[in-house]
Amino acid sequence: MGKMEQGREGTAEIIVRRMDFQFDDTIPTWWFDGDVVKTLIMAAQSCTFPEGERFFIRSVRAWQDGVQDPVLRQQIRGFIGQEAHHGNEHTALNAFMLGRGLPTDKVEAFVKRGLGFRDRMLSPERRLAMTCALEHFTAMLAEMLLEHPEFLKGMDERVFALWLWHAVEESEHKAVAFDVFQDQVGSQWIRRSQMAITTLEFSLFSMLHFARLYRASGAKLGARGVLRGLGYFRPWLRSLRPRYLAYYRRDFHPDEVDTRALREAALQRLAQMLDRPTLAA
Ligand SMILES: [Fe+2]
Ligand SMILES: [Fe+2]
Repeated sequence: MGKMEQGREGTAEIIVRRMDFQFDDTIPTWWFDGDVVKTLIMAAQSCTFPEGERFFIRSVRAWQDGVQDPVLRQQIRGFIGQEAHHGNEHTALNAFMLGRGLPTDKVEAFVKRGLGFRDRMLSPERRLAMTCALEHFTAMLAEMLLEHPEFLKGMDERVFALWLWHAVEESEHKAVAFDVFQDQVGSQWIRRSQMAITTLEFSLFSMLHFARLYRASGAKLGARGVLRGLGYFRPWLRSLRPRYLAYYRRDFHPDEVDTRALREAALQRLAQMLDRPTLAA
């Protein structure tokens, strides 16, 4: 990954790639390496996506009319299209998990209520800053996956395809909400303080959603077993620390990390997995 010139001119075009993942009976319940904890950590994230991405879309749309730059306007449309599709595909995965007896519907409903509360309580500036913060999280995790696909080693190929596709598009549109914020709000204080708040909330709710799914799973791993499972994620998350902290820099921009080559490679792999001629531009 290299540094590149900041700004939208360096961003690849944002393309909506339609998918129709089928999660059928042949997929194991513990699709991440046969491991309950690893599967449920990812499932907990998946439960937050449909409503979370609708929240992102609302937050960005609220500022859309004020944006004059035609390139950014175009990118907003791409961003909205991509996020809407991600939500649909994660809904399918969540329904699959529900069919296996996990209360993904309860977690989704909880997330919906929580975001509805933020719609009412937070200013549009704060909601957009919260979207930027969460988009930074998804971009960091996505690009970690693009650079190190072995992070998801042992995941069922059909579920892996969903995460890989989502990762590519999160990386592709990572600067859109940020650019809208800089263009329309621009407050360093709101951007940075909201990142600190969102970090706490994100960590807390990730664990809460995981715990809810785990309790319902009937697994009896004991505290040690659960901690061992969670331990898998620790070095990966720790490796993201520099990129996380970079967000607090005054001159931070999501495009300062150029991952176009990684996305290209992932798209080629994905096209092979899905038996499609191409998924690139
Ligand atoms: Fe997304
Ligand atoms: Fe996103």
